[in-house]
Amino acid sequence: METAYTDNEAYQDNFDPEEYINTYYNRKSGIYVVDGCLDFELRKLHEAFATRGVKGKTLIDIGHGPTIYQDLSACEAFDEIIGADYTDRNREYYERSLRNEPGTFNWDAVIQQVCDMEGKGMSIEEKKKKLENTVKKTLKCDVLKNNPLEPLVLPKVDCVMALGCLECASSDLDDYRKALKNVSSLLKIGGHLILSEILNCSSYLSGGKRFSCLVLTEEFMRSAIAETGFEILDLEVIYRKYDKEQYDFCNHDSTLFVLARKVKDVK
Ligand SMILES: C[S@@+](CC[C@H](N)C(=O)[O-])C[C@H]1O[C@@H](n2cnc3c(N)ncnc32)[C@H](O)[C@@H]1O
Repeated sequence: METAYTDNEAYQDNFDPEEYINTYYNRKSGIYVVDGCLDFELRKLHEAFATRGVKGKTLIDIGHGPTIYQDLSACEAFDEIIGADYTDRNREYYERSLRNEPGTFNWDAVIQQVCDMEGKGMSIEEKKKKLENTVKKTLKCDVLKNNPLEPLVLPKVDCVMALGCLECASSDLDDYRKALKNVSSLLKIGGHLILSEILNCSSYLSGGKRFSCLVLTEEFMRSAIAETGFEILDLEVIYRKYDKEQYDFCNHDSTLFVLARKVKDVK
């Protein structure tokens, strides 16, 4: 389904954190629960941080939106996580979720799932505390700027993660390559990039509003990541069954997860 490009201001004005989280992550009906994408992300993040040993001092979680699932494995491997998102409402909702404030989305089942994968006998409450203590702050960010955290200049970090963000922010494939270069500039050489994108998606619905999504393919992703100075360490794609009602919300046919290591800076 085609829709005009939804820019930063459309996100700031129209992206409702609660509507998004309920549409995509509701335990029974969430689009990413039904299509297996959430389970896939949790498994791949666990593999990256616990099995493959991606770790370090600082990880930046770019375009976190209102969700916290993506930081549950990372908080065991990094001394600090810094969140970053364009919209004020997403950053507020993310902070409120970390403080476990009443009225925020209940992630307990997902937290339990991650604790079970880790197998250390950690309780849900202990994991929530660990997460809250590890995420130090969340910053305003625009991946379309050369320095996405402008006016702040941070020391380069060990890991940058962007799940489902760059394809929302980019209007075309050139824009995507630039956004990838911009977020890569935050990363040390030898540091890790974690990206996940839904593929072949042109738009998605949230809170009755339709947002554009850049149509991406695995082939494009492989070449864009390599051109930006990365070595791909792991890349996996899962496919989704066709279902008209589900596709009307979000018309991706698959989800891609990539772990890559920065080999060089590309100007
Ligand atoms: C589809 S949501 C993904 C949320 C979450 N990461 C997830 O896994 O469900 C896209 C996110 O990208 C953010 N975003 C859109 N344009 C952006 C930009 N130019 N810079 C930074 N974040 C942006 C939005 O605010 C939103 O939180």
